[in-house]
Amino acid sequence: MSSPKIWTHKGTFLLAAVGSAVGLGNLWRFPYLTGENGGGAFILIYALTIAVVGIPILIAESLLGRASRKSPIMGMKYLTKSHGTSSNWQIIGWMGAAAAFIILSFYSVIAGWAIHYTGLMFSGSLSGASSETIGAAFGDLLASPGLLLLYHTLFILASGAIVGMGIHKGIESGLRFMMPALFFILLIVLAYGIIAGDAVAAMKFLFTFNLSDLSLEGWLQAMGQSFFTLSLGMGAIMAYGAYMSSEASLTRTAISIAVVDTVIALLAGIAIFALVFGSGMEAGQGPGLMFVTLPIAFADLPGGILLGGIFFILVIGAALTSAISLVEPVAAFLVEKYGLSRPTAVGIMIAGCWLLGLVTVFSFNIWSEGTITHTLFNRSPFDVLEFVTNILMPLGGLLIALFAGWALSRDEVIREMATNDQWFKVWQFLVRFIAPTAVAFVFLRTIPQVEGYLIPAVGSVLIIGAFTAGRSFMVNNKAN
Ligand code: PHE
Repeated sequence: MSSPKIWTHKGTFLLAAVGSAVGLGNLWRFPYLTGENGGGAFILIYALTIAVVGIPILIAESLLGRASRKSPIMGMKYLTKSHGTSSNWQIIGWMGAAAAFIILSFYSVIAGWAIHYTGLMFSGSLSGASSETIGAAFGDLLASPGLLLLYHTLFILASGAIVGMGIHKGIESGLRFMMPALFFILLIVLAYGIIAGDAVAAMKFLFTFNLSDLSLEGWLQAMGQSFFTLSLGMGAIMAYGAYMSSEASLTRTAISIAVVDTVIALLAGIAIFALVFGSGMEAGQGPGLMFVTLPIAFADLPGGILLGGIFFILVIGAALTSAISLVEPVAAFLVEKYGLSRPTAVGIMIAGCWLLGLVTVFSFNIWSEGTITHTLFNRSPFDVLEFVTNILMPLGGLLIALFAGWALSRDEVIREMATNDQWFKVWQFLVRFIAPTAVAFVFLRTIPQVEGYLIPAVGSVLIIGAFTAGRSFMVNNKAN
């Protein structure tokens, strides 16, 4: 085999991982979840779970990528053999690929909405529009399968084009151009939010908290968000980690990714809430925050239509740099396993995701509430897909933590991490006990039939206990 592919620069993995991490999760999901969960209290828990669960798993996932230098599926196969562990762990690679496939299928549809809004803003059709008109515009978009399909197709083709050009000419060059541009646009939108909106109210909402707001429910949502926003458990980080320079520090890089991702989510939150509060609206609007509330604010404020257009370009760009990280793991697998050319492999991946994306497209119109498909599952097919990924993500993260913490041979992990003994011990403690227990708890809690918190709490301790005790079954005797 030829020598492994590596990013051109030592810092590219950081750039690529930040590109993957910063996306709809930061600009769309984080602000509306914060809005729904009482602001500062939610952010506090979110930051805490990023630190004790997110960062350790981020280190573990990039470690798996770099130690194998292969796509997630082939990489897990390689690691289980070379570390003499049970081959059952290979499920991590397959689950990641499945989750990436499903997420891309709906991520592309939602990113497509931002294409529509860029057009709406720049065409001036929203200028001076009433809030009813703007609310109706969102409804009209969702009611049109043709439009949704058009944007979905455009977006997924753009993602495929970048990945199809290869990791250097496509992904690396694309990111080197897009990431600074996106950051620049964010600063413009932030400056506008501070000037035109009510930044003081926004900061107050985001950074002061009431201890009584610290509900367990909010804690659970914060944890789910910390996985989604750091792109964990889906093979994206593992795939990019496979190209990571051996000299870059895993620990430092993971901390940087998490800090940059969080800072960007906060800056976006300040900009968005400054505009929303400045127009006298409420924070807790749910998923419509970005596509209804924010456009109303833009239409209401001086120069808002132009800035609104620029803002939605930011959303498209940030979504694009995330989408390519979902194409890469599966495409790289098809190249490695079947010797396909990269464009062919990418073509297969995006054709499949495009097809599955139809499910999401139709969920908002011809399969919406009241139709047979909806009744069948008692929720929209899109919600079913989202539900499946909400299970695959934490489960993938849990398994990655356990695999890296317990199954891999300790000496090699120490060598790969190249950190001092104390840090290694802290990390090992977090991935062995804290992260798995926390994730197992959330995971059990999200099963609809499980009520309350006692069963998940006991269950998570039992699961982790079983893993700890049963380690010898999962690990071959020669590794320890
Ligand atoms: N982290 C991305 C976001 O916040 C979403 C994503 C998840 C991207 C998983 C890649 C893999 O929007």
